[in-house]
Amino acid sequence: MDSKRRQLITGISVAGAGVLLNACRANTGPSGSATNENTKNEGPKTGEEETLEVTATEDLMREHGILRRALLVYQESAVKLRQDAASVPPDALEKVANLFRVFGEDYHEKKLEETFIFPTVQKSPGIAASYVDVLLHQHARGREITDWVSAITKADKIASASVEPLAKALESFVRMYAHHAAIEDTVIFPAWKAATGQGELDELGEKFEEIEQEQFGDDGFATALKRMEEIENSLGLANLDMFTAPAPPK
Ligand SMILES: [Fe+2]
Ligand SMILES: [Fe+2]
Repeated sequence: MDSKRRQLITGISVAGAGVLLNACRANTGPSGSATNENTKNEGPKTGEEETLEVTATEDLMREHGILRRALLVYQESAVKLRQDAASVPPDALEKVANLFRVFGEDYHEKKLEETFIFPTVQKSPGIAASYVDVLLHQHARGREITDWVSAITKADKIASASVEPLAKALESFVRMYAHHAAIEDTVIFPAWKAATGQGELDELGEKFEEIEQEQFGDDGFATALKRMEEIENSLGLANLDMFTAPAPPK
């Protein structure tokens, strides 16, 4: 097998754990005897970089990671909106809605799930196929809500009559996608992987990379991650420790 492998380059000198610098495509042959879809460490490169392969299913799941971060911002914003609507800058929510549209709805859902994953799963035996209609319906409902959130947050200030409807819309969006992504991660993606041969998985991994480059010009994941970090910073939600649960009652 002489296929191009998807690779992710991480810079170990970058501040902040897991901050991704860049990604690229590279020609590499299979290394060692591990030929399954597991992520392979291709070994350290020169300097301070190491190269890690990103498989097709890992790619889909880390995209869910970006979308989960967007949902967490929505969740926190719904709480803040009810406490003090003026403390939530509408443009920050507009940026989240835009990221969810471009990265989540137009790319992850439309170009990958609806084009490659769902059609295969629909034809495969087992319970996964029975979820597809609902998942498609949820994609469509998500788009409606994103349109509405974008429209409401375009203004300099969220109209007081829109505060509670916006908080409710954000919460219902978060709830729907939390369930949606959990089913995709645990039922749909494993079923797709099982129904697709290893060679085809490798090819599709490359195809996904091409689509990502067509869509974003460079590395969509790294760009989306950077944008999410900026949004979290602007809303004071970047400190992970602020979400550490309090100790239980003694
Ligand atoms: Fe989906
Ligand atoms: Fe998804």
